Formats: sequence, C-alpha cells, structure tokens
Amino acid sequence: MRAEPIYLSPPHLGGTEADYVGEAFRDNWIAPVGPHIKLFEEEMAAYCGVNRAVALSSGTAAIHLALDVLGVGKGDRVYCSTLTFVASANPVLYQQAEPVFIDSDPETWNMSPEVLERALKFDAARGKLPKACIVVNLYGQSADLKPINQLCRKYGVYVVEDAAESLGAVYQSSFSGTLGDIGIFSFNGNKIITTSGGGMLVTDNADFADQAAHLATQAKEAAEHYEHTRCGYNYRMSNISAGIGRGQLRVLNRRVNEKRTIYQRYAESALPFTYMPEASYGRATRWLTAALLPEGVASVPFIHKLRTERIEARRVWKPLHLQPLFKHADSFLHERNTAEMLFNRGICLPSGTAMSASIQQEVIGFMEEYFHQSNPQEAVVF
Ligand SMILES: Cc1ncc(COP(=O)(O)O)c(C=O)c1O
Repeated sequence: MRAEPIYLSPPHLGGTEADYVGEAFRDNWIAPVGPHIKLFEEEMAAYCGVNRAVALSSGTAAIHLALDVLGVGKGDRVYCSTLTFVASANPVLYQQAEPVFIDSDPETWNMSPEVLERALKFDAARGKLPKACIVVNLYGQSADLKPINQLCRKYGVYVVEDAAESLGAVYQSSFSGTLGDIGIFSFNGNKIITTSGGGMLVTDNADFADQAAHLATQAKEAAEHYEHTRCGYNYRMSNISAGIGRGQLRVLNRRVNEKRTIYQRYAESALPFTYMPEASYGRATRWLTAALLPEGVASVPFIHKLRTERIEARRVWKPLHLQPLFKHADSFLHERNTAEMLFNRGICLPSGTAMSASIQQEVIGFMEEYFHQSNPQEAVVF
C-alpha cells in the first residue's frame, strides 16, 4: 500500500498565500472585513471580466444570495441541471421554492438545451414557467450558454451560472461564470483554487451585487443604530480567506494548464475509458478528469480496488432527480436518461495539480493492471 494517499483534488498552494495571510495577522484584520476582501473582489472581477464580484463564505451561500436577489421565493419554480452536487439545488429549498431538474446533453454532460426548450415550452403552455434557471458548469466545462441564455431570455427566466467547478474555463470568448445574470464560484478545498472554504458571486449588474453584499452582512441598514428591514445572512468571506484567495489567484492560469496536462496523460494512456468530451465552443479546465468505464464494468468495485492502494476516485454525481431528497420534484429528461447513464458508468480520476507525472504514471499503471488482470466484464457487472 502507498505511504501517501492520492486524493482526487487536494489544495495546492502557490507560495505567496502565507504572505497575504501574514499581512492580515500583522495588521490585525482577523475579521470578515479588511483590505484583502475588497482587493480579492477587484482582482476576481478583473480576471473574469465582470463589473462586480462579492466575496462570500461559500459557493452555496453565493447561489442562495443569487436566488434571493433575483426575487425567487415561496412556491416559485427554479430549473436546475440534474447532474450536479446537491449544493446547486439546496438553496432553492432554502427559499421555499420548487426545484425542477433538467437532463444532461451527452456531448457536454451539461444541461441539455434541447430538454430545456421542451421544458420551457411545456411549462409556458400550462402557466408554470420558472423564475430562474441554475445552469451548472460541470467538472471544469461550461454548459452551452448561448442557446440556454437565448431560451431563458425568450421566456423571461433569469440565469444563475453555477461555475463552482469551472473557474478559468472559457465559453467562446468569455470566462465561464460570466454569461448568466449572476454567476458563482466556489473556493472549497477541492476546487481549482481554494481559500480553505469560500465563494464569490459575480455579475455585471451593480444593483444585484449591492443587494448581495447587503444581504451577506445581515442586511444592516445605513444608520447609527442596528436597523433592519429585510432578513439577511452572515455570509461574508473572512479577510484571512481572501488573503489565501489572492495568493491562489496568481497561480490560477498555471493550475488550468496543469489540470489539462493531467487529463492529457490519462487520455494518452491505454486505459479503456471514454472521456468527458471537450465541447467545441470553449476550453475546459478539466478540473476533474471524468470518464466513462467500458459498458458492463461497474464503478464501485473499481473504486474500492483503487482505495486499497490509497488512490481516491469518485463516481460521477448522482443526478438530483434520483435523490430521495427531491423525490417529489418535477424533472425533464432525454428518453435515454443521459444523466443517469453518466452516473452509472462515470468516474472521476485523481486530478490534483501537485501530483507529479511519475506518481500519475503509477496511478495509470495500477488501473491498467486492474483491466488486464481481473476480468471486469465478468467480475463486476452491475
Ligand atoms: C457544482 C457545485 N455547486 C456548488 C458547490 C458549492 O460550493 P461550496 O462548497 O463552496 O459551498 C459545489 C462544490 O462544493 C459544486 O461542485
């Protein structure tokens, strides 16, 4: 067994983070206010090419504030990609709204514009159009935002771009996360850059950004006493986290290239996988290298076998329309249930940018051996 475990996507520091954190300690800005927060927001806005960025405690908080700012409330319907982490849709429940799940496109694994169009037509005809649509950019690849935006605009539906997993990815000539009415990023420990936990809301709409910042600080009104007219939240990022984020932002482009190199090494190996396709409309970061196992080979025994060598791999997200939590939610699916097929056959491979080429070669060798030695077709049919 290996002495050191190989994780899916652990944090990878660039070297300057401790300097920014040291500054915060020196100046005693150990608080959810302080100079790093404003600077991190400005630097993120400049990097992404948006007017405004609001630094928050998590990506989930950013989605929650986006829905609140867009006026999503009790009983409103909100569309959401089904193939995603539960955090994409939990904020819909926080707002007492109703999630409705949309299937994936087999070519991009992201929200299917075709299914979205069918859903919007159907719901328009019965007077049940959603207020917003949460479009997830999965595993470092942007969804096809142009047709999605056009459809949503046509039916008067706001677009929230959940770019938690796709910071640094490009759609046409824009950065992923900047194409909807509001976009969000996550800086959780496993993301392409981390603040140890945090998130960012980005938008070109100054009013949305102001409202989000106001709600994130308990909706305190401008007064000498504590005055509140709305229910707010304690969602601001700390100055320490923002310092880490500023250091991490400096290595983001490098991390994107490293992630793509890791993908390339898997793709060039003899492993019998079908990799998540890279859509022709953009440049994915390959935050996680995701792939389908050969048909008839189950993912769970393969993942267990890797675990015996302390190598972490994970199944692709279980679609939210299949989660017990959402058993009463509506969903719109392809006849062939694309997201469910991706879940059944999909795995995410170790994609940490600090993993050396030789360690990755060991990982690849171990996997190749699995396919040569065992007869997976027989042994592990699901
Ligand atoms: C697609 C997606 N949306 C939202 C989130 C939530 O982000 P956070 O963990 O920062 O709350 C994550 C990851 O954690 C995610 O992968």
